[in-house]
Amino acid sequence: MKATWILPDGQHITAEVREGQNLMEAAVANTIPRVVGECGGSLSCATCHVVVSPDWAAKTGSVGEFEDAMLDVAEAERQPTSRLSCQIKMSADLDGIVLIVPQ
Ligand code: FES
Repeated sequence: MKATWILPDGQHITAEVREGQNLMEAAVANTIPRVVGECGGSLSCATCHVVVSPDWAAKTGSVGEFEDAMLDVAEAERQPTSRLSCQIKMSADLDGIVLIVPQ
């Protein structure tokens, strides 16, 4: 399965992501700039903040309560489809997902 990250400079990076892997881990494994995952996916850093392409947003499920609180304090301004990428697990439904890395 694949995911694509669009960087602030417009560069697109597409990488292979295995089923069940979360998209923060996938970003770190593929050295996507600005997706850090400092807390290792325990919902306490917001350094894995991405904006899900609106076309894909409905498929990623809803924002959890803690995730919602963390998004409010993320470094980059929150957008309507902002998510913490450690909370999105790759699945067949998300194959091809596009994520925008915020400034
Ligand atoms: S990696 Fe820390 S909140 Fe996602």
